[in-house]
Order: sequence, then C-alpha cells, then structure tokens
Amino acid sequence: MNYGYKRFSGNLILVSAQYPLLQTDAPRCVPVLDTFPQVLLEHRAAACLRQLLNAVGATDEIVPVSGYRSFSQQVEIYRSSLLEHGADFTGKYVAKPGCSEHQTGLAIDLAQKAADIDFLCPDFPDTGICERFRSAASRYGFVQRYTQDKEDITGIACEPWHFRYVGYPHSEIMVQMGFCLEEYIDYLHQFSQGNPFVLQQHGRQIAVYFAGETPVQTADEAPITEVSGNNVDGCVMTIWQ
Ligand code: DAL
Ligand code: ZN
Repeated sequence: MNYGYKRFSGNLILVSAQYPLLQTDAPRCVPVLDTFPQVLLEHRAAACLRQLLNAVGATDEIVPVSGYRSFSQQVEIYRSSLLEHGADFTGKYVAKPGCSEHQTGLAIDLAQKAADIDFLCPDFPDTGICERFRSAASRYGFVQRYTQDKEDITGIACEPWHFRYVGYPHSEIMVQMGFCLEEYIDYLHQFSQGNPFVLQQHGRQIAVYFAGETPVQTADEAPITEVSGNNVDGCVMTIWQ
C-alpha cells in the first residue's frame, strides 16, 4: 500500500503558523457529550476523551467549550477577537485561519464548570478535577498542547484549557520526554524502520519511526500498524507487537 497520501492527515499532524493545515477532507466528527451537541471532535478522539472524563469522574464537572472548527468558523473567531481584544491578544491566543489545530477536529478547549465561561480563555486551573484530568490525559492520547515553557517554539501563549489528541503512545512519550508536538515531530526523524524508537507497555512492544513521504508496507504478519502524516515532511509509523 502507498501511504503517501497520508502525509497531511492523521493524529500527529502539526498545524501551526509555519505549517498550515493541508488536509482537504473535513474530519469525521461527533459530539463529545450529548449535553453539548454543538462541540464536536474527530470520532476516535471524542471516544478517548469520553473515556478520560469518565476515568477521572469529570463528566459533570468539566465542560467542552470549543472543538472542531471549520475554516470559516476560525475566520469569524479570529476577526471578532481582533475587534474585541486587539492584535496582541489575538496573536497570542487565536491561530490565523488555516493554521488552527481546531480545524483538524483533534483539539478541544475545556473549562471547569461555571456559570460564566470565557470562550477564548476558559478557566482550567491546575488544581482539583482539572489537574486530575491533566495528569491522566496522556494515558488516553491527549496532551496540553501549549505550555509556558514552549511558547517560543509553538508561537502560542500558555493555554491550560487546550488539549490535543495525538493518540497513544505518542501522548505518553511526549509527556515523559517533555516534548511539545514540534519537538516530538523533529525528534522522530532520527528513527527508521531498521532503528525504531521502542517502548515497552504492558508486555507489548511498540515501535515508532519516521518513514518519509511514502512509507513501505510492513510484512503481513506485522501486528497493528498505524500511519499518520506529520504535515511537515512525511509519515510516522506506529507498530504494535
Ligand atoms: N487557541 C488556538 C491557538 C487556536 O486558535 O487554534
Ligand atoms: Zn483551543
């Protein structure tokens, strides 16, 4: 199979001012929670988020605020933020249309339940249920995407409320190694099919490597293989053995 077409889609795509979204198909999205039918997420990311909310007992305490956004929705959010808050704030907290990972369906803004929730900067403190959620997130494929220590790399200010689905085990590797997505994508370039990054988890071996633009199919007897583009220069293979 030729995986070349995958280069611009998948859980690991990096979408930023430097790497705008190139995927043309809208993601298959579903509501995260029936109680907030307008907040959508890519269907596998939504399933993992529901499991995560259940696992930490947060379904009634954490509120989904903004998930999938179309290009035109991001245009409107960017425009109204400029009008309401000005260019400095908007540059820090709102990605330009075409450059928001909300357009992938893999990003979600969450708030601690409250009477008033700020749409752009919802309150998601580092205490209580929100911190329990944050601590458990990587076990379910999510990472806090924009942290203070990576502002120079991401170009976005710290956003404690914005979580990105990258899928397991990538979320765990990123957290354990202290990488933001830009750093992780870069780090994986040194690994190849013959020299993969290997992780042992619950008696299984997971191999991860960068496979260039047109990854070669693994042998039929190879167990589960996932391929994701990185939206930069190729694909990342994840092989569960
Ligand atoms: N708040 C993030 C950066 C976005 O608008 O995608
Ligand atoms: Zn966000």
